[in-house]
Amino acid sequence: MHNPQLNSNGELIHLLSIEGLPRGILTHILDTAASFLGITDREVKKVPLLRGKSVFNLFFENSTRTRTTFEIAAKRLSADVLNLDITRSSTAKGETLLDTIDNLCSMHADMFVVRHASSGAPYLIADHLKRVGRDDIHVVNAGDGRHAHPTQGLLDMYTIRHFKKNFENLRVAIVGDILHSRVARSDIHALTTLGVPEVRAIGPQTLLPTDLGRMGVQVYHDMNEGLRDCDVVIMLRLQNERMNGALLPSAGEYFKHYGLTPAKLALAKPDAIVMHPGPMNRGVEIDSAVADGPQAVILDQVTFGIAVRMAVMSILAGN
Ligand code: CP
Repeated sequence: MHNPQLNSNGELIHLLSIEGLPRGILTHILDTAASFLGITDREVKKVPLLRGKSVFNLFFENSTRTRTTFEIAAKRLSADVLNLDITRSSTAKGETLLDTIDNLCSMHADMFVVRHASSGAPYLIADHLKRVGRDDIHVVNAGDGRHAHPTQGLLDMYTIRHFKKNFENLRVAIVGDILHSRVARSDIHALTTLGVPEVRAIGPQTLLPTDLGRMGVQVYHDMNEGLRDCDVVIMLRLQNERMNGALLPSAGEYFKHYGLTPAKLALAKPDAIVMHPGPMNRGVEIDSAVADGPQAVILDQVTFGIAVRMAVMSILAGN
């Protein structure tokens, strides 16, 4: 099946989803990110790989980590970065997404980094660019609806590889609102592609999609059972804004059954790491004692996100 992210040589031209990408491309991105982390740890703060290129950050939905780290990453690659202020843009006057894109193409954009509440919006843009003969412009999905958040998935894999050294023999649990989570979907595709033998999904029936088995994931409704002997615990935010109707009795009830406390974390391996994509709801899905505790690598994830986003942008459009 045609993958719109790859050209006829199998090279990455857009990053829209981790689903369908071969292991070699994921590994290449992680290895390239490792080389950038080496650079940014030292005195050299900038490399000229995107000099003369314009990166447009188009965030139609709120973001702290993703928008900021894309901006830092692009600047460290020497790109010109433009952050479109959507609330002050002509989108607010009714301009369509594709009319906005056509206008930004006329400003000599080289890359669009897109976050949108609608699943599929970055695909729509990539398809439109191809139709108007501008497939020299790259599209990076920075999170679309419930569908995918590929750079978060990649930075999560980078974090796991950093702390656990490889993906073999790992038991990884993803806990919480998987139904509404683009992060969970990207993580599951990345973990299974990279060869993690056991991926577990833990949550109430109402917050788990029905196709997890087909994705190679084991389902647990009892958190105590699901966490047992895990190497990695990925906690997810409860996405109240995406819920239609009452999927949960209350936040307090949710925390009692699915909140990560020190006592529950003790069921995982003693050296298990705790991850969370952010933003966190303390006291809803995670206890502050865990979020700020010695096993949490949540802020490391953010730092690694810069190197991973540098890797993605340089692979797509590097000089
Ligand atoms: N993890 C993540 O996507 O965070 P932001 O919404 O702050 O970008």
